[in-house]
Amino acid sequence: MENVEGKVAFITGGASGIGLGMAKAFTSAGMKAVIADVRDDHLDQARAWFEQAQRKDAVHFIKLDVTDRAAYEAAADEAERAFGKVHVLCNNAGIGISAAVSEASYKDWDFGVDVNLNGVFNGVHVMLPRIRRHGEGGHIVNTASMAGVLQYSRAGVYVATKFAVVGLSEALAFELRDEPIGVSAFCPGGVRTNIREWEKTRPERYTDADKAPAAPGGPPPGFKPDPEVMKTLGEMSWEPEQVGEMVLNGVLRNSLYIFTSPEFRPGIEERFQAMLAEIGDNPELAKKAREHVPGLVSSPIYADALARHKAVRG
Ligand code: NAI
Repeated sequence: MENVEGKVAFITGGASGIGLGMAKAFTSAGMKAVIADVRDDHLDQARAWFEQAQRKDAVHFIKLDVTDRAAYEAAADEAERAFGKVHVLCNNAGIGISAAVSEASYKDWDFGVDVNLNGVFNGVHVMLPRIRRHGEGGHIVNTASMAGVLQYSRAGVYVATKFAVVGLSEALAFELRDEPIGVSAFCPGGVRTNIREWEKTRPERYTDADKAPAAPGGPPPGFKPDPEVMKTLGEMSWEPEQVGEMVLNGVLRNSLYIFTSPEFRPGIEERFQAMLAEIGDNPELAKKAREHVPGLVSSPIYADALARHKAVRG
């Protein structure tokens, strides 16, 4: 989208952290924002911020759990009643579930997948037909993570869902290639938010009777941080308002990927080197395949994304 002024964004998980940062950036740029979130306390705090900033007419708040499909449809109706149309969908609600794949229970897995991945699909399923219907164009931002590009720690359930969000975004970018609706996979590095409080939104149906909550929302008792490590982590972390601006720029530039943190670059290079080392090399067959089955061995979305990047940044 080249011009966002007067357009409307629907942001899930919009009442805290990164989603709230997006809402602040978007409304600064003259947009309206529907802020949908499952936590009442976050909704209250966000409402207070917009009132104090004298921007309350630019926002509308909806309590929504993105895993609830019927409620999502009703929220979309409410958003349209409030602001007429939705142009930008930010599938941002997510939980920083720290369960390892090797140790997760079925409930951990289902909780992670339902919020972080199915919540994104639910958003696309409900909102895309509405964006198409008004014909004014739009954009879909799916919040993944650097953990959607690189394996990260022992948070395997989180990694699996975030890789899937990147895949979903690339697939959707291909499907919408000939429509005026852009798609971005947003992959932030560290951002100072409430992400560690994810156990607070775990519903009863995803709770194992015999298991204590996995993440207390703060450092473990007796944790003695190494000052150098903490300093580096601090230098690597953004404020939500800063990443909100990066997302706005990504929407304006129609970036397929929105990254925040170049310090991850060597990690990405290593991952692709590890793949390239194993795949072998057969230039003749590769050439033939690109001629005869191009859609099988690559995707035009990568060349599209590179061309748009070069047009903006040279
Ligand atoms: P946050 O915890 O501050 O904000 C997330 C918001 O989503 C909260 O207000 C929470 O109530 C809401 N939420 C949780 N489950 C929901 C549900 N089922 N339905 C509706 N709303 C729900 O955390 P943050 O960091 O702003 O997280 C936003 C997104 O950014 C997440 O998808 C997260 O995985 C991703 N992310 C965050 C990073 C960070 O360093 N903070 C890094 C990479 C990705």
